[in-house]
Amino acid sequence: MSIDSRKVVVVGCGFVGSSSAFALMQSKLFSEMVLIDADHDRAEGEAMDISHGMAFASPMKIYAGSYDDITDAAVIVITAGANQKPDETRLDLIRKNSAIMKSIIGEIKKRPFEGILLIVSNPVDILTYIALKESGYPANRVIGSGTVLDTGRFRYELGEHLGVDSRSIHAFIIGEHGDSELAAWSEARVGGMPINDFCELRGHYDHEASMEKIFNSVKNSAYEIIARKHATYYGIAMAVCRICAAIVRNEQSILPVSSLMTGEYGLENVVLSIPAVVDENGIETVVPIELNETELSKLQQSAAVLKKVIAEFYP
Ligand code: NAD
Ligand code: LAC
Repeated sequence: MSIDSRKVVVVGCGFVGSSSAFALMQSKLFSEMVLIDADHDRAEGEAMDISHGMAFASPMKIYAGSYDDITDAAVIVITAGANQKPDETRLDLIRKNSAIMKSIIGEIKKRPFEGILLIVSNPVDILTYIALKESGYPANRVIGSGTVLDTGRFRYELGEHLGVDSRSIHAFIIGEHGDSELAAWSEARVGGMPINDFCELRGHYDHEASMEKIFNSVKNSAYEIIARKHATYYGIAMAVCRICAAIVRNEQSILPVSSLMTGEYGLENVVLSIPAVVDENGIETVVPIELNETELSKLQQSAAVLKKVIAEFYP
């Protein structure tokens, strides 16, 4: 079965899946979108509701389907699974969501599928590792949304602090999409300028205090939003669209998606986020940006946190 680069499947149509589907409809990236959920009525309702916006966007086919519809898709976005309650971490979701991920990959594997798996459900790095192992697909085809969202939050906060378009900021959150993530400050640039120089240009000299405040705000964003509205979904929906665009347009964009480490920074057999070139084949290559000693040590600690959880599933 050949791939239709204009077809996407979204598995899981809760807050994240339906918001992603809505954003994908508006993005005009695809001409066909299949929605799958354990609750088929839910998928049908979302397909109907999102289709009603089509007259204001662009024509496409949107329907609630089944796994038999996946075979020629370019991308399957997996957002199925429980979300965090206010007192839970992302890693706390692993028991419930690992079983869900295994059952979904089991269904996908029964059919021929040559596209890209984009994992969004949490804990995203561990579930991407599970999807990789259970599918047996090459590592370039199994991507986690990783810290693309956190990096978007980081650029937004920096843009607000510095009074500059967040799109002019090159700065990454890397590691786990979760509590052990870190900011790669030493490589952060604004309009090509080292970030501290740009801060001074804007009259900010309290680098340490500002860095700590901005990073903590990014790291705790999800907790703050969940405390107020019980779930996060618009930011991740935009991140899903961004990653899908890089794939279907073969953009070779550099995005901090999560992918399998194969020796970068001394890390192996763990999935986490490092900037990577993303194209029609998924991960073209990881871009091992330079880190200072503190950042490297934090990245290794983040990998250790993830490896401990992975070891419970694949001893
Ligand atoms: P939700 O409860 O609103 O939706 C989950 C959906 O998954 C439900 O519609 C449910 O019926 C469906 N589902 C459950 N098991 C299924 C199965 N086996 N097959 C198909 N569908 C199934 O939750 P949500 O708020 O949409 O969050 C979904 C996931 O996304 C959570 O794990 C959440 O933590 C994660 N998330 C990730 C990011 C990120 O940056 N990676 C951001 C936000 C949320
Ligand atoms: C986020 C989710 C909860 O918004 O992972 O970061």
